[in-house]
Amino acid sequence: MYQKMKGTYDILPKDIDKWLRLEKTIRTVSKIYNYKEIRTPIFENSELFHRGVGSETDIVSKETYDFLDRGKRSNTLRPEGTAGVVRSYIENKLYASNASIQKLYYMGPMFRYERPQKGRYRQFLQFGVEAFGSNSPQLDAEVISYAVNILKALKIKDVEVHINSIGDVESKATYKEALLNYLAPNINNLCTDCQKRYTTNPLRILDCKIDKDSEILQNAPKPLDYLNNESQSHFTETVAYLDAMKINYKINKNLVRGLDYYTHTVFEVNANIDTLGAQNTICGGGRYNNLVKSLGGPDIPGIGFAFGLERLMFALESLSFKGDPDYLHLYLMILGDEQKADGMAILNRCRLGGLFADIDFLDKGMKAKWKQAAKLNTRFVAIYGANEKENDVINVKDQETGKEITIDKHQLYNHIVEELMKPSAACESCKEDNCDECGE
Ligand code: HAM
Repeated sequence: MYQKMKGTYDILPKDIDKWLRLEKTIRTVSKIYNYKEIRTPIFENSELFHRGVGSETDIVSKETYDFLDRGKRSNTLRPEGTAGVVRSYIENKLYASNASIQKLYYMGPMFRYERPQKGRYRQFLQFGVEAFGSNSPQLDAEVISYAVNILKALKIKDVEVHINSIGDVESKATYKEALLNYLAPNINNLCTDCQKRYTTNPLRILDCKIDKDSEILQNAPKPLDYLNNESQSHFTETVAYLDAMKINYKINKNLVRGLDYYTHTVFEVNANIDTLGAQNTICGGGRYNNLVKSLGGPDIPGIGFAFGLERLMFALESLSFKGDPDYLHLYLMILGDEQKADGMAILNRCRLGGLFADIDFLDKGMKAKWKQAAKLNTRFVAIYGANEKENDVINVKDQETGKEITIDKHQLYNHIVEELMKPSAACESCKEDNCDECGE
């Protein structure tokens, strides 16, 4: 009997629904961010990955599936999506289209010859995003918020966003020199992999899994301390935008990422799921301002990230996800015929603003309405009856926190959006009662 290849898995019919729903949520959030889908081949010319991802990276030097086709061309099954999307962006001259910025996303299989374990496969699925054409830190912040809002939409809360900057080419070169000088007298005390990396890929020594706690690495110079003025202000602005958007993050001075193309901002999202162990990085990304040019295109900056979908699915399953992330932001309970016209206006305003909202069209009793709101996985339930109408107010309950308040009825949309913006990851302050920061 044949068996599946090591590091691969089947998705059986009983599980397909939850995968479709995961994909649907990703597409919905992508639409909100105005990113368009792109589909590129699963194999490319091997050279693309050598030049794009970097021939000295683990991914390319140890993990690619390479094959010669019958025409003796060297092909590689894509180990990641960025290089192929950049190739397509250049080949199809997407930079010359009307929109000067291209915001793209993709979902599909990637292939890496790694040692399989839970959360690590040889064929795995990525959802990735690439945005081209702007070096604005606003775009860095948008891309990070996109990743965070995917998790919010899936209701995955126990996550940590780590960010760092490795700076532009000049800062990277200054830093590399400082790191090599610092490590020279100590290199023989590090693991054999790090000794190799010293000549091939020294930045990766910084996040070595074996040596990361050693005194040598603890005291090593950090990229953030070697940023030139431009790189420093890029990073400062990026984190200021994240603060403005109330996105929780940690600055991780050791984060360098495993692919060569990064410049400036790099980031990862870790999920706190015990069973995933070292495979708890569910998303990784960063800016790559020189990649398009180095692959033969114009000098156009880019930034992106990719989620591992199996790891996202593990995070969902740890929340006893039943395959139904469908949800509403608002379920409006209109009580009494005289309130219906006003209620429809309130509902319309919320929908125009982009909230997923609904009402009961069958004039059911209160108990049935609450049941329906729960069934529809509703975050906010608003009640608008005669009393509320008389006082121009509306009563809103946050089903997630249990908090209930009465507000000006014209403020319902603003109120919900404000609440949705609040950090849902466990921030330091919300471990305490009555935290001002998150209102819980
Ligand atoms: P990466 O960090 O190599 O980045 O991979 C992104 C995510 O893919 C990881 O955080 C992980 O969740 C998942 N992943 C990677 N390898 C495996 C595996 N063997 N099995 C299961 N999941 C895996 C990239 O691929 C970049 N292209 C991301 C990017 C896009 N940077 C800029 N734009």
